[in-house]
Amino acid sequence: MKTELFSNSKEDIKKAGELLKKGELVAIPTETVYGLAANALDGKAVASIFAAKGRPMDNPLIVHIADLQDVEDLVAYVPDVLEVLAREFWPGPLTIIMDKSGIIPDEVSAGLDTVAIRMPSHKTARAIIRAAGVPLAAPSANTSGKPSPTTAQHVMDDMNGRIAAVVDGGASEVGVESTVLTLCTRRPRVLRPGRITVEQLEEVLGDVDVDEAVLGQLEEGRKAPSPGMKYKHYSPNAEVFVVKSTAEAFADFVNAKDKATTAALVFEGEEDGLSCTTINFGKENDDLAHANRLFAALRECDEKGMKEVYVRCPNSDGVGLAVMNRLLRAAEFRIIEL
Ligand code: TXA
Ligand code: MG
Repeated sequence: MKTELFSNSKEDIKKAGELLKKGELVAIPTETVYGLAANALDGKAVASIFAAKGRPMDNPLIVHIADLQDVEDLVAYVPDVLEVLAREFWPGPLTIIMDKSGIIPDEVSAGLDTVAIRMPSHKTARAIIRAAGVPLAAPSANTSGKPSPTTAQHVMDDMNGRIAAVVDGGASEVGVESTVLTLCTRRPRVLRPGRITVEQLEEVLGDVDVDEAVLGQLEEGRKAPSPGMKYKHYSPNAEVFVVKSTAEAFADFVNAKDKATTAALVFEGEEDGLSCTTINFGKENDDLAHANRLFAALRECDEKGMKEVYVRCPNSDGVGLAVMNRLLRAAEFRIIEL
């Protein structure tokens, strides 16, 4: 299959909508990461997303909508708090899990009784949803297990030949996936941290729980509240290590490694004095920059043929919680303390 590269012009958005209506797969830009979209109401189209990504079938997908009234048909009932959450955070990088209605195919919810819904703020994403005339199921548009794509080129690198088209809407602004919040537990609970922080949610909802798997490994034998937590995730081919240390100790440590195959992910201004390949992912306390650059930096390590990547451990406050959540999984929880 030839994968077409579309722009975000009106004509191309229309073409993307037509392809989606026919049950084809189209990668779309969003403010978080690029998504691999299909008609969410067409179980067969949705099944082909899993095939293209190599995604385990028991990992459910997020349904993307363009307008608030689209929620009603997708859920068993609209929870009271949805109104205030939508007012504060939609359109935007918040995914909300609710009890699903009968029109959600099992392929979307992976057999669960719930459905995850999000209204992206990226204008092109919403224009494509409207052009398709249906809600769109879309996981991140990477090969399963790899870092999520934040540019159309990243999507092409993973999906060329496997999907009908990619719509180029520029680099994703946030860079990490949406915050996933479930309303199906006694208290609202964050299953995956993202650009909308726990603090922001608590301002609106009062106390919010944060699932223990956010910064930890899923305990053996525990059923995953969000199936995505089970899998090795966001990993480049290179082995990733998180290093907790001072800048000086970090420099001594990486300078003793093979410089031909070692990359160091460091804070801006720390590149000097390192003998291996360096990539900076923003200033030391700039959590938004870290989120914006992390996945692209991990992909760059593979492009450069690196075997090992050592990452200066960022702060996990605010959006840093999302960065740390992705980084620990990319590193398969390998942490080095110096
Ligand atoms: O920002 C995003 O959310 C991006 C863009 C494309 O919108 N999408 C995304 O999708 O990150 P994906 O499939 O890579 O991640 C969806 C996460 C997975 O961890 C999945 O297990 C969880 O949401 N999820 C989806 N439906 C769920 C449900 N009904 N119950 C619990 N977790 C669910
Ligand atoms: Mg993903």
